[in-house]
Amino acid sequence: MPSLEGKVAIVTGAGRGIGREHALALADAGAQVVVNDLGGSLAGEGTDATPAQSVVNEIVAAGGQAVANYDDVSDFGAAEHMVNRAIERYGRLDILVLNAGILRDRMLVNMTEDEWDAVIAVHLKGHFGPLRHAAAYWREQAKAGETLRARVIATSSPSGVFGNVGQANYGAAKAAIAGLTLIAAQELHRYGVTVNCIAPNARTRMTEETFGDLPVPENGFDPLDPGNMSPLVVALSADEAQDITGQCFFVWGGTVNVLRPWDAGELFSSDERWDADALLAQLRERFPDGVAPEGMVAMMGKAGGQSMRVG
Ligand SMILES: NC(=O)c1ccc[n+]([C@@H]2O[C@H](COP(=O)([O-])OP(=O)(O)OC[C@H]3O[C@@H](n4cnc5c(N)ncnc54)[C@H](O)[C@@H]3O)[C@@H](O)[C@H]2O)c1
Repeated sequence: MPSLEGKVAIVTGAGRGIGREHALALADAGAQVVVNDLGGSLAGEGTDATPAQSVVNEIVAAGGQAVANYDDVSDFGAAEHMVNRAIERYGRLDILVLNAGILRDRMLVNMTEDEWDAVIAVHLKGHFGPLRHAAAYWREQAKAGETLRARVIATSSPSGVFGNVGQANYGAAKAAIAGLTLIAAQELHRYGVTVNCIAPNARTRMTEETFGDLPVPENGFDPLDPGNMSPLVVALSADEAQDITGQCFFVWGGTVNVLRPWDAGELFSSDERWDADALLAQLRERFPDGVAPEGMVAMMGKAGGQSMRVG
C-alpha cells in the first residue's frame, strides 16, 4: 500500500457505508483523517454524532489518528468550517474525499420541489462548498511557494454517468459532479491538485433502499463489499498519481474502468447553417432505427459490472 504518512485527509459522509471504508483505508495508509458525517437519515433528515464518532474510535483503536466533524456539507459556511478544522487540528490538508450523499428517488412526473432541492444540495453543493474552500487554501499554499501534491476524489454514480430511471434529482447531481470534476481538474492542476471522481457500486443502506437485502456470499470474494471502493482512493492519493486527473472511475468489485467522458461522436457537417428539413433527413438517414440511451444496466455491463438487481 502506498504510504500516506504525514498527509491529512477529509472524508465527507464517512460515518457509514463507502465513506467509512475510505476513512479506514486512508488512516491505515498513514493519513490523519477528519471523519465528517452529519449522521442523518438516508433521506437527509435529522442528525446524529454516533456514526462519525464510532469511525474515529475504530481508527484510533487500530493505532491511527482521526477526529470527528459533524458539519453539513451542503452549507457553504459549514463546509469552510470543516476545511479549517482539518488545517487547525493537523496543520494542513492534502486529500479531500467528497462522498456524503442522500437519496430521494421518485419518477420525474411525481418529484416534488423539496425532493429535487435536497438531493441537489447535499450532492452538488455538498461537493462545491468543500472543494471551493479547499481550492482557495491550496492556491494560497502554491502562491506561497509550496510544492503541492493535493488530491480531490469526488463521488459520481452509474446513475449520473449512464442515467437511471427514477433518479432525475440524484442522477442530475451526479452527472454535474462528473462535469465539475473535469473543470476543477483543469483549473487546479497548475497548483499541484488532481481532481478525479468515482462511480462506485457497493452494498450500503443506499442500495438496500433500492434493491433490498443483497446477499453476502458465504465464502470467497464479495464484489459488493463497500471496502472494494477504497483501494482506488488510496492509490489516487499517492504522490505517484500526480499526473492522473480529470478522470471518472467506475468501480465494481475488482473491476476499475476509466470511463470515457462525453466525447466527439457522429458528425453532421455543412459549410453553412443547416436547413432544418435537410438536417432532419440526415438524422433519419444516419439513425434509421432511431437513437436512445442504452440505460444504466446495459452500460454497467459494458463497463465490467452488473445490475444489483441480478447481483
Ligand atoms: N452504494 C452504492 O452502490 C453507490 C452507488 C453510486 C454512488 N454512491 C455514492 O456513494 C456515496 C456514499 O454512499 P453510501 O452508499 O455509502 O451511502 P450511506 O448512506 O451509507 O452513506 C452516506 C453518508 O453521508 C452522510 N451525509 C448525508 N448528508 C450529509 C451532509 N449534508 N453532510 C455530511 N454528511 C452527510 C450520511 O449521514 C451517511 O453516513 C454517496 O455519494 C452515494 O451517492 C453509492
